[in-house]
Amino acid sequence: MTSTELKIPAHIAIIMDGNGRWAAARGLPRLEGHRAGTENLRQIIRACVELGVKYLTLYAFSTENWGRPKEEVNGLLTILESVIDHELNELNAEGVRIVHVGRLEAMPKKIRQKVCHSMEKTRNNEKLVLNIAWNYGGRDEIVCALQEIVKAGIPAEKINEEVITQHLFTHGSPDPDLIIRTSGEMRVSNFLIWQSAYAEWYFTPTLWPDFNKEELKKAIDNYSHRKRRFGKL
Ligand code: IPE
Ligand code: IPE
Ligand code: MG
Repeated sequence: MTSTELKIPAHIAIIMDGNGRWAAARGLPRLEGHRAGTENLRQIIRACVELGVKYLTLYAFSTENWGRPKEEVNGLLTILESVIDHELNELNAEGVRIVHVGRLEAMPKKIRQKVCHSMEKTRNNEKLVLNIAWNYGGRDEIVCALQEIVKAGIPAEKINEEVITQHLFTHGSPDPDLIIRTSGEMRVSNFLIWQSAYAEWYFTPTLWPDFNKEELKKAIDNYSHRKRRFGKL
């Protein structure tokens, strides 16, 4: 199948895993792996824009990742901050709309403000919706949605799948068509557990900092050959 025949998923979600192992293999501190993984983001986002992907969701920090050593958590927060500082203008110029998915409250105020600013600044962009899952947990998201539904006074008989979907952090994005997990791990790790009901999964042993445009195309090519049935015939 040539690239012109690729079936482009409207929504790709990525579990960007393997930064720590990438660093360890080079005798570097884990944070260097996270930095390398961040550098890599630029080409993947650009490739998605070029290929016509409309939604890209990146799993950057899970609710469970707070359990890592303080130094690593702080380093990851600093990386998030510097990505916003250095990439916002270019992403904005490229028509990328930034959306944070996850709970903002637990994040330091300064970073929270920067995240909100980046969402506000890019809110009218239409080329690509970039969902950044930071302090995101699929279970936490469902808890949060239920809290919002109760607070809104929606009666039990009015609660359906549509109502729950609308109250998730990802509201406004369709369900992911393709979920990619790098680094050889084959598990969900609390990512998009509601939205992934009929997603196609693609696993690759490649560690996230080494995942490039060619690898992305390979994943999309693989996806193009899948027959999605959604429970029907
Ligand atoms: C993924 O890489 C990034 C985050 C979870 C923040 P890891 O840090 O999990 O890397 P490995 O899995 O230890 O190699
Ligand atoms: C999932 O990776 C979270 C992110 C990529 C942000 P983890 O490395 O945290 O997942 P586990 O611990 O291997 O399941
Ligand atoms: Mg990992």
